[in-house]
Amino acid sequence: MCLLPAAPAFAAGDVERGRVLGYTCLGCHGVDTYNNAYPTYHVPKLRGQNQEYIVAALKGYRTGERPHATMHAHAATLSDQDMQDVAAYLGGEEAKAATATGTPPAAIAVCVTCHGQDGKGIMGIYPTLRGQHADYLEHALRDYMSGARKNAIMAPFAAQLKPEDVAVVARYFSRQPDGLKSVPRKEKR
Ligand code: HEC
Ligand code: HEC
Repeated sequence: MCLLPAAPAFAAGDVERGRVLGYTCLGCHGVDTYNNAYPTYHVPKLRGQNQEYIVAALKGYRTGERPHATMHAHAATLSDQDMQDVAAYLGGEEAKAATATGTPPAAIAVCVTCHGQDGKGIMGIYPTLRGQHADYLEHALRDYMSGARKNAIMAPFAAQLKPEDVAVVARYFSRQPDGLKSVPRKEKR
């Protein structure tokens, strides 16, 4: 018998409710080639992302702790339940861990305990990086390094990266197959 208190389980949301709420999100997250206007980088892929992380990200945008004007506008009106439902729809089935492809760059040695050698976030609150757009991953890492995006867990690890490692690390995780995808815009019900 296990006497340790169980970690609070993440409750999966309602996909059908999320589909309605998430319709407006597809204009950006459902287009593989869509870019953030300035600075220019691809809108992050959400399909296959850990749902718990999607909710955490949305809460960050809602409070403004994670700064982004457009995403703040979208998250501001969502309740916690709305976020869980939208995460269930947009995230869909979480990407699975798989064998890593390619030679892991030395700089990822410290990253794999949370993000996996194959880029699959090993716990719900650790984002999956597998298959994410490389330019988005680079942008995120530079934001942690500059302090524009604040996170107590990530900040010290991003700070360890040399500037020349950022693109290498981003490319490695982005190239892992069977990972994140944009949400298909015309999904069968
Ligand atoms: C106008 C385009 C646009 C729309 C519409 C939009 N997003 Fe976003 N979204 C973005 C961009 C750009 C980012 C990256 C922002 C950043 O750098 O933090 C983002 C980031 C995110 C993230 C964080 C992803 C990650 O890997 O950290 C989540 C979750 C998200 N959006 C969910 C939503 C939801 C839910 C909706 C609809 C309610 C929505 N978005 C609507 C452009 C959009
Ligand atoms: C102790 C666990 C841990 C370690 C080690 C770690 N990360 Fe993270 N990482 C996180 C968490 C938690 C987040 C989400 C933080 C947030 O909400 O902004 C994150 C976010 C990220 C993101 C943003 C993803 C997105 O979708 O926006 C990138 C990119 C990233 N990490 C890369 C790395 C790299 C590269 C390393 C190694 C140099 C690393 N991480 C080490 C836990 C970790």
